[in-house]
Order: sequence, then structure tokens, then C-alpha cells
Amino acid sequence: MNTILAQKSKISNIDFDNLNFGEIFTDHMFVCDFINGKWSTPEILPYQSIQLDPSTSVFHYGQAVFEGMKAYKDDEDRVWLFRPDQNFERINKSSKRLSIPEFPKEYFFEGLEKLLAIDKDWIRKGVGNSLYIRPFVFASQAGVQATASNAYKFIIICSPVASYYASGDVYVQVAEKYSRAASGGVGYAKAAGNYAAQFYPTSLALKEGYQQIIWTDANNHEFLEEAGTMNIFFRINDNLITTPISDRILDGVTRKSILKIAEYSGIKTEVRPLSIDELISSKKEGSLKEIFGAGTAVVVSPIKGFGYQNKKYTLDDVDESFASLLKEKIVNIQYNIAEDPFDWRYEVKTTLE
Ligand code: COI
Repeated sequence: MNTILAQKSKISNIDFDNLNFGEIFTDHMFVCDFINGKWSTPEILPYQSIQLDPSTSVFHYGQAVFEGMKAYKDDEDRVWLFRPDQNFERINKSSKRLSIPEFPKEYFFEGLEKLLAIDKDWIRKGVGNSLYIRPFVFASQAGVQATASNAYKFIIICSPVASYYASGDVYVQVAEKYSRAASGGVGYAKAAGNYAAQFYPTSLALKEGYQQIIWTDANNHEFLEEAGTMNIFFRINDNLITTPISDRILDGVTRKSILKIAEYSGIKTEVRPLSIDELISSKKEGSLKEIFGAGTAVVVSPIKGFGYQNKKYTLDDVDESFASLLKEKIVNIQYNIAEDPFDWRYEVKTTLE
């Protein structure tokens, strides 16, 4: 791998106690170009702007996918990733759907390890601190032909983070008009456009006092599918319920890890569609105990209440919530605090050869 190191690190200028999510980036980035039908030799470069022709395909047709993962540092300065194989497989699944060539596994892991070894000082110890890793790939060919590009750029950038959403109660609005994904579409892919399409409906929800939207099925807005940019979980009585994976649902790494941890901890799980009618009737009869979102960025995000048909429903606080229990268990595995019965942790070798 070609490597060019930054002449001077920016790290001494960073206020690690006041980080906003995804605003600051480390000193280096990983870059690999797809040209002439193959991925060329990857490079690690000083973090920098990239120059693109205004006609570049991604600006016009949105052929782009991304991933989100995190690196954690334990008390002994060892650096860990959490199930990185899952992110690798998913970016290629997303790429395939967007007609982007798949990325070689050895480039992905060698690039990631080298980047983390070089920028390891940016990973701060302590639960909550981590390095958010953003691999992404986009169509980089110049020209406005509406066809799959012949050239792509695969890049990995890293951002030190503390926690994602601001604290405070989160209320979500159940989607009655807009949809995030439809059958046969790209909902299961981490396609850039899936996120772009959420911004407008989310801004309308914000005006009505909701931080996020619970996305419902595009056919009848009857079943609850995702929460904002996260997968969604419900606790009805003592059962943990989440939507099954389909071509409309992102196969979240946090989602599937939470399901496994819950089962391992003796919590009864149900992977099945949950309707808005069932949500409201369980709320009315008092069996709806919790709703929470799950994703890499925030891990677990408790939802205090929801809005539907101009009515706001608020959940009572619960002692020993599933959200905090499951969050603690997953975080303890991620930070090498607890045993890892599932073999999910991946240690990054941070000594440079
Ligand atoms: C996540 O929850 O990890 C996400 O996908 C959010 C990300 C788009 C910032």
C-alpha cells in the first residue's frame, strides 16, 4: 500500500471534550480508485479535499453507498473493532445493488488496520469515546450519461466521537405519508440516497416537535419498520420485538447483535412485523414498556414517545429497561470490558511494520 504521512498532526488543536458527531476528521484517509476495470493499489494519504469534475456521475445520479463502524480503545491501549466482517459484507451487498464493483476484502482490512495504526492516538479511552469510521464508495467518472460509471473511488475517513444525539427525551412521529423504502427498492442497502430522501420528511416532523420518524411500510403505512436512521425495537410486556429483515430494512449490525445478546440473556425475542394498531392497543392496555432505536452511531437510543394521527403518546419510565441493559452488554463487549461469547471483537494491530 502506498503511504504518504501528514507532515504535522492536527490532534493538538482538537477539543476532545466537546466533540460534535462527525465534524472532525483524523490526519489520514484511505483511498482506492477503480479504473480500467479493476481496483488499483490503495493509498493512505494525508486527509485532504478531493477534486472532481462538475459532471462527475455521483453528483447527478447518486451512485454511492457507505458504511458506519467504530474503533474502541480499552484500558490497556488495545484497539478493537466490532464485527467488521459484517460491515465489509454489507458494503459489497449495497454496492452490488447500486451496480458498483465489489471491493476486495484484503484491501478493506489492510487499509482499515493501517489507517487505525497510523491514527490510533485519535481513539480515546473511556466508554462513549470511539473513532467513527466511515468507508464509502462513489461513482467518480466525469460525464452525465445516465449509466453505471466506469470509475469509482473507495475512501475511508475517521472521526473521533463521544456520543451522537443530544440528551433529552426523544419523540418520534409515525410516518403516515412519506416512505423510506419500498419492496424491490434499495432500502436494505446503505445507499446515500436513502438518507437524502429522509431529510425533508424529518424536517417536517421536527417542526411538529418530533426528533425522528418511525418509517412505516410504503403500501399502507400499517407496519413499523425503522426509526430514523436506525433499526427499531419494542418491548411489549417482557418480549423484545423487532421487524424482520427484508429488502426494505437495513440489516443492522447493532440490531442483530442486540437480538443475540437478548436471547443469550434470557429475554424472549420476537422477529415479526408490528403494526401501528398493535402499538396503540398495547400502549392503551399498558403492555408497551419501551421503544428504542439501534444503530452503530448511537448504539441504543430510547424513545420516550410517539405521535400518530395528531395524537402524542408518552411512555412511562421503566426500572431496569431493556434499552439500558442491552446497551451496557453490547458496549462492554465492544470496549473489551466483558467476555465476548460470540467472538465479535476484532483486535487491531497498532504497531506499524
Ligand atoms: C447509525 O445509526 O449508525 C447510522 O446509520 C447513522 C449514520 C447515518 C450517522
